[in-house]
Amino acid sequence: MSEAKRLAGEKAIEYVRDGMIVGVGTGSTVAFFIDALARIKDRIAGTVSSSEQSTQRLRAHGIEVLDLNATGPLSLYVDGADECDTHKCLIKGGGAALTREKIIAEASEKFVCIIDPAKRVDVLGKFPLPVEVIPMARSLVAREILKRTGGQPVWRDGVTTDNGNIVLDVHGLSIVDPVGMERELNQIPGVVAVGLFARRPADVVIVGGEPPILL
Ligand code: 5RP
Repeated sequence: MSEAKRLAGEKAIEYVRDGMIVGVGTGSTVAFFIDALARIKDRIAGTVSSSEQSTQRLRAHGIEVLDLNATGPLSLYVDGADECDTHKCLIKGGGAALTREKIIAEASEKFVCIIDPAKRVDVLGKFPLPVEVIPMARSLVAREILKRTGGQPVWRDGVTTDNGNIVLDVHGLSIVDPVGMERELNQIPGVVAVGLFARRPADVVIVGGEPPILL
């Protein structure tokens, strides 16, 4: 599967234009994109990173990482996903970087999602849905999620996000209305971000393979 991830990551380079500031996601597929980006680093104006993990990899390659507050809107965001449906709605957050990923996706004109074929699904929810939560609200949010969705929230033990919060992974969902589910979970006080990217889905999905498929 890592070969499919590499092919997807390398294909995404075709969306990078000279002088761009590139939004960069998080994960093992994005790591291949970062490595490919390093080869053309002199042609871009910099990057905005969605996690400490990606920032480290970018800087190790000598790629500049900028503050989103200083860059303003971005032309391009490249990120992976845990699941992708036929409408390009996504589950993300397997790497616990969902909040910053969502911020950069929102700030970007084009969101190019890079996945391996196993991530394609008809209905989202087999992959447990990550929700970033303020620590003091953990129990409250877990009860509300159970009440509102019927899904089983499980505390991702030992994980603290880059923002100092915890993650609940919601098991047992079959998400037939991703936009509605995202809206509903966003209402719960203490929820920082929901790993459903439905209101702002991907614009282009690259499924890694020989050749890569574009959705
Ligand atoms: C991190 C993410 C990742 O994009 C997602 O988990 C996919 O990761 P990988 O490319 O390693 O399969 O959302 O928060």
